[in-house]
Amino acid sequence: MRSVKAAITGVSGWVPETKLTNSDLEKLVDTNDEWIRTRTGIIERRILKTAGKGTSDIATPAVKELLQKTNTLPGEVDLLICATTTPDMQFPATANVICDKTGIKNAFSYDLNAACSGFLFALTTAAKFIESGTHKKVIVVGADKMSSIIDYQDRATCIIFGDGGGAVMLEPAKDENVIIDSILETNGVGRKFLHQKAGGSVKPASLETVEAREHYVYQEGAQVFKWAVKNLSKVVQQVVTRNQLSAKDVDWFVPHQANLRIINAAADFAGIGQEKVTINIHKYGNTTNGTIPLCLMEWEEKFKKGDNIVLAAFGGGFTWGATYLKWAL
Ligand code: UT7
Repeated sequence: MRSVKAAITGVSGWVPETKLTNSDLEKLVDTNDEWIRTRTGIIERRILKTAGKGTSDIATPAVKELLQKTNTLPGEVDLLICATTTPDMQFPATANVICDKTGIKNAFSYDLNAACSGFLFALTTAAKFIESGTHKKVIVVGADKMSSIIDYQDRATCIIFGDGGGAVMLEPAKDENVIIDSILETNGVGRKFLHQKAGGSVKPASLETVEAREHYVYQEGAQVFKWAVKNLSKVVQQVVTRNQLSAKDVDWFVPHQANLRIINAAADFAGIGQEKVTINIHKYGNTTNGTIPLCLMEWEEKFKKGDNIVLAAFGGGFTWGATYLKWAL
């Protein structure tokens, strides 16, 4: 009997309208457009400005679009996993809020936090539910409202991040175009270089933590950069060789969008030509869990059924990984 495999049967994405450009940032911190472009590749990002709106409001339009595109009724969805680092609130899970806002009533749902690698971790987890045969329609969301935890007085972090997200539908595959392999890794040693100091159980929110601006992202950029280049490059190479592929067999490389220099280094190391790399960092910056689904959504028209696609990410924790799949749409 053929084992059940998972296929991506739909993709969608959503970003808020408001743009935050490099020249806008020049007015907030001591930086300039040339530095940001050359050091990161970013020109502008999107920001969810509306008061009272959170990550679920980024994910909800993406999930509604996904249901429409895949002709799925909300009641048919079995499971929704939301990868996010900026949940609407500590609890309940943002996944539950998304289900409520989209009319998904017969599914169970939960959040998964692996920082910028969260979407890949959630995609791999979701694929296992399909492969087990217990679940037939699983939605994976990757979304973040990074502007809610960014210090717009810190030039080292505020230039990188933006808000946005997307979603994919996973279903049992009808052919060989499936999610084939994933390598996922973590190393908690890296947590000191990228984290949020306060607002969790170790240091709950207080007047002092707010005054010390400890509810914002803390990043030692150069350290993160070094780890990212090394581990992202390695894991992409690993997933390619483990599946008996050569660089020329890879039709598309879809990397997390944290820094154009990290993306280029990983692609070069694996020998993947620039023309095969999906890049939208110049428009959206680093949307954390949103980057990969937003790339999938934007490149959907260019991907062909059966294309060999490698997804890869690196993020806080540290977390990193790569997934090899064949495009099923
Ligand atoms: O999403 C997953 C996790 N995150 C990442 O993967 C991000 C990884 N890190 C990076 O992308 C880069 O480290 C940054 C873009 C954050 C910073 O770039 P960098 O080339 O590593 O800069 P740096 O931190 O080593 O700083 C170099 C210089 C410093 O000045 P001095 O000390 O050499 O005089 C910084 O103060 O650049 C200065 N600098 C800036 N200058 C203008 C830092 N930020 C800015 C800025 N504008 N925005």
